[in-house]
Amino acid sequence: MEMASQLMMLLSSVNGSPPTARMTALPFAVFGLGNKKYEHFCAAGKLAYQCMLDLGAKPVVERGDGNDGEDIDSDFDTWKKSLLSAIDASGLLTKRGEIEGSDGDGQKKAQEKIAAYDFVLPSEDTHVRSEVAELVHNSGDGTRRDAPFLAEVLTVKELHAPTAERSCIHVELTIAGSGMKYTAGDHLGVFSKNGTDTVEKAAKALGYPLEMPFTLVQPAHAPAHLPQPFPGPVTVADALAWHVDLLSPVSKPALQGLLALAHGEDREKLGRILNGSAEQYKAWHKQSRCLLEVLEEFPNIQPPIGAFFASVAQKLQPRFYSISSSPAADPNVISLTCAVVRSVTPTGRLHKGLSSTYLKEKLPGTRVPVFLRQSSFRLPSDSMAPLLMVGAGTGLAPYRGFLQERSALIKRGTTVGPAYLFFGCRTRDQDFIYKSELEGFQKAGALTELHVAFSREGKQKDYVQHQLKRQAQTVAYMLSATKDARGVVYVCGDAKHMATDVASTAVGIVMAAEGCSEETVRSRFTSMSKERRIQKDVW
Ligand code: 2AM
Repeated sequence: MEMASQLMMLLSSVNGSPPTARMTALPFAVFGLGNKKYEHFCAAGKLAYQCMLDLGAKPVVERGDGNDGEDIDSDFDTWKKSLLSAIDASGLLTKRGEIEGSDGDGQKKAQEKIAAYDFVLPSEDTHVRSEVAELVHNSGDGTRRDAPFLAEVLTVKELHAPTAERSCIHVELTIAGSGMKYTAGDHLGVFSKNGTDTVEKAAKALGYPLEMPFTLVQPAHAPAHLPQPFPGPVTVADALAWHVDLLSPVSKPALQGLLALAHGEDREKLGRILNGSAEQYKAWHKQSRCLLEVLEEFPNIQPPIGAFFASVAQKLQPRFYSISSSPAADPNVISLTCAVVRSVTPTGRLHKGLSSTYLKEKLPGTRVPVFLRQSSFRLPSDSMAPLLMVGAGTGLAPYRGFLQERSALIKRGTTVGPAYLFFGCRTRDQDFIYKSELEGFQKAGALTELHVAFSREGKQKDYVQHQLKRQAQTVAYMLSATKDARGVVYVCGDAKHMATDVASTAVGIVMAAEGCSEETVRSRFTSMSKERRIQKDVW
C-alpha cells in the first residue's frame, strides 16, 4: 500500500492537473519482471499496472509477467507480439514500418542490423589493463555498485567436514580504508571472474588468442541500446574473465546474436532452436546450456570481437551474499558464508558456481572487488524484543551476525530478550556449520534455545518446520496478535521450498493455537511483515 501511494504520488506529480483527468486517455503497457519462486511475484509490475488503471489510463494490452525462473525472454517475446499487434490495430503509431518485428519478420531484420563495437588494436607501447581495479571498474569506497572496494582476503576456511559431499566456505575480508559502514543483516555484492579453464575454453571456441590486447570503441552511429564498452586495452583473457557471463543459462538475445553471425548448417540448426515452436524452445532452454557450451557446440560461428561483446555476450553481474558477521565484533571485517555450488546440468555438464568457485580459490592477501547493499533484514532496536530465527544451510549466515551483535551488547552490560534459533542441515558430522560458535553464543546468553533439524540422520527427513512444530507454543507466542507482542520472526535461506513450507507450518501452528481461520492468520502475517515483525531474506 505504501508503495502504491508513492507510485500514485509520483504519477500525479508529472504536471499540475489532477491525475485522473490527465490519465483518462493515456494508453499504456506494463511488463513486470520477477521469479515465481518468490512470494511477491512481479509485484512492482502488478502495482504499476493497477495504479495506471486506477488513474483511468487505458491498457493497450493485458499486463505481461516475466518469470526469470523459467524462460523470461520467451515470456517477453510473447507479450511483445501481442503489444505490437495491438499497437498496429489501434493506429496509435503511424510509422508502422519502424516497429521491428511487427510484421513477423523481426528475426530477419535483427540479422541484418546486428550491433557491433568498433575494434582497435593498441599500439605496441600502450599499457594493457590487467589489474582488477582497472578492469572491473575504477576502485572506489565500496558504498556503491559502480565504486567497488578492493577488499583484502584474510581467510578462506572450509566449514564442512572433509567427509562431506558438499563444500561451504567461511570467507573473511578486511574493509579497513573503505567507506563501508555495514549493519548486521546487510548484503555484500561481489564482482567475481571466470576461472582460467572457462576462459581458455571460451577463447578457443571463439578463435581469439588469449594474450591479444584490444580496445572496444562505440561506433559512430551506435544504436541507442548499446552501452558504453568496458575500458581498454585489455587482453582477450581478461575481457573473457571479467566481462562475460559464460556459465549462466544462455539468454535468447545472445542466441539471436549468434544466429545473426552464423552460416550454413549452423544457421539452420540455431534457427531451428530459436524459431521452432514455443514448447520446443522451452524444452531446449530447460536444459540450462550456458554460453560457453553453445559456443563449443557451434565452433564455426567465430563472431568478430566487436559483435561478440555488443550482441552476444551478456555482462557478468555481481553476486550477492548475506553478510555473516556484525561490525560489533570488528567494524573492519566482513565475513561471508558461501555454499560452493556444484551441480550436473541436464546435458551432463558439471556446473561450477562462478562466484563460490572464485572465492574458494582466493588466497589470503589477494583482493576482491566488493560493495555494500543495505538490506531491511534487521535486529529490532529494542534489545529486549524476543527473536525467532529460522534458517537452513547458509541461511544461518545473517543470524551469526545477529548473535555476534547480541554478544557485544551483553558484554557492554545491556540486557537482551530471548532468542530462539531453528537451524537445518543434513547431519551433525558433516554440515553443522559454526557449531562451536553457536554453543558459545548460548553460553554467553546471546542465544536462548538452539533447535537443529538433521535431515539425513534418521529414516525420515527432519526439517526446521518439524522442529518448529515441536516448539509450537513458542512459535504461536511469537506470532500471536496480543498487543504486548513485539518479537520478530526471521526466515532465511531457500525461497522455493524451505521458506514456503515454514510459512505453511507457521500458519497451521497459529490456526491450531488460536482456533482461527487460515485467511485470518495469513492476513495477520501480511500485516506483521509490513510492521517488520516478520522478515525474510530468501533466495
Ligand atoms: P535435504 O537436502 O536432506 O532434503 C540445508 O540445505 C538443509 O535444508 C538440508 O538439510 C536440506 O535437507 C534441508 N531442506 C531441503 N528442503 C527443505 C524444505 N522444503 N524445508 C526445510 N528444509 C529443507
